[in-house]
Amino acid sequence: MEQYVIKGGTSLKGEVSISGAKNAALGILAGAIMTDEVVTVENLPDVRDTQVLLQAMQGIGAIVERVDKNTVRICGKSIHSVSVDDEYIRKIRASYYLLGSLLGKYGKAEVALPGGCEIGSRPIDQHIKGFKALGANVNIGYGMIKAEADNCLKGNHIYLDMVSVGATINIMLAAVMAVGNTIIENAAKEPHIVDVANFLNSMGANIKGAGTDVIRIKGVDRLHGTTYAIVPDQIEAGTFMFAAAATKGDVVIKNVIPKHLEALSAKLVEIGCEVEEYDDAVRVKATGRLKHTQVKTLPYPGFPTDMQPQMAVLLSVAEGVSIVTESIFENRFRYVDELSRMGATVKVEGNIAVIEGVERLSGAKVNAPDLRAGAALVIAGLVADGFTVVDDIKYIQRGYEDFEIKLRGLGAVIEKVTSESEVQKFKLKVS
Ligand code: UD1
Repeated sequence: MEQYVIKGGTSLKGEVSISGAKNAALGILAGAIMTDEVVTVENLPDVRDTQVLLQAMQGIGAIVERVDKNTVRICGKSIHSVSVDDEYIRKIRASYYLLGSLLGKYGKAEVALPGGCEIGSRPIDQHIKGFKALGANVNIGYGMIKAEADNCLKGNHIYLDMVSVGATINIMLAAVMAVGNTIIENAAKEPHIVDVANFLNSMGANIKGAGTDVIRIKGVDRLHGTTYAIVPDQIEAGTFMFAAAATKGDVVIKNVIPKHLEALSAKLVEIGCEVEEYDDAVRVKATGRLKHTQVKTLPYPGFPTDMQPQMAVLLSVAEGVSIVTESIFENRFRYVDELSRMGATVKVEGNIAVIEGVERLSGAKVNAPDLRAGAALVIAGLVADGFTVVDDIKYIQRGYEDFEIKLRGLGAVIEKVTSESEVQKFKLKVS
């Protein structure tokens, strides 16, 4: 099993380039098979989740050609099945986007129920409500979710009961070729929603209002091929910003859209970091001990839930008592026990974590409980005295491209290992 072994105590310095957004990529890849023409996707993050989705698309007959590490050419003309199930697709969340895209293109789809990180119960009732409103019958059974329209899908007015990234993207996918107009109210506004809408529009869709609460879609008869470059990953960028801050570093994070990072930059400034914004880069610099604060996760443009664990690590070594409130997912503090084993003082009551900042963390063997918490534990390892081994890094690899390579480029002492003897070798080498 792969692990990261880290020797903490080095301030990160230098420049790092951010990859394309994983969560936009997943919607975009699913959308790419909605035309029979060739779609070229550029700036695709080469991470486990996108690899699994591409494999599943190949499994139903789509042609997927890797042009290079971050570019794929996809053709959905040869799709021979609308039933998607394999042991890998069951593990990722975004499998459900194939439901939206296949239903939108062929009027029927059957996909294994989504897995993903265990950060809460993660129902999909809003996706189902949307598909039903467009005229599909939806049934769940034997671990599969099946959506089928007797006639063609018809546009409708859909009010989401809660702001959901997944439901917003999925309904957009299903509605682009429906007959007539669809309005999604209380839509999610995350940058990746806008990116998926821009991508579909570049294929000939007519989607307006993405990035606001109300998305209006005029159904079109067909979509055509396109070449599209995915936006930079807001969460990967944020993770490096927080790693720079936690290690009292000075890092220029390149290939980002600073506007997407405002909630993060504002918090960093509040706790005593310097953040400089450029056209497509941000520089984060920290000196001295950071200050305590309060954070509550909210849908965009609020503080992202996907940055909550990384923020908690930062605050675990800040001065004073901080409060972190998780308002999106009910089970997103599973990393706290691991962090406590590194010396952090964190008490969780329901969806609130009270963090009493300590002077230093100490290295330990910890398990990554999910993708973002795994990245947060790596940051903790970079800060901690001594050696930290982060286990279960398969979670981290789902969403971070070349994580340890990029960190090493900033001076971090980190290596990917597969055995205890490699851990010992690393320790000898860097001691
Ligand atoms: C997506 C992201 C994930 C991120 C999350 C919130 C992907 C692949 N994953 O997850 O990284 O943490 O957005 O920014 O893009 N809900 C329902 N019913 C539904 C759908 C959602 O009750 O049908 C609830 C969820 O349980 C959660 C909240 O709505 O409490 C938001 O979930 P949602 O935005 O849908 O998250 P995901 O799309 O699963």
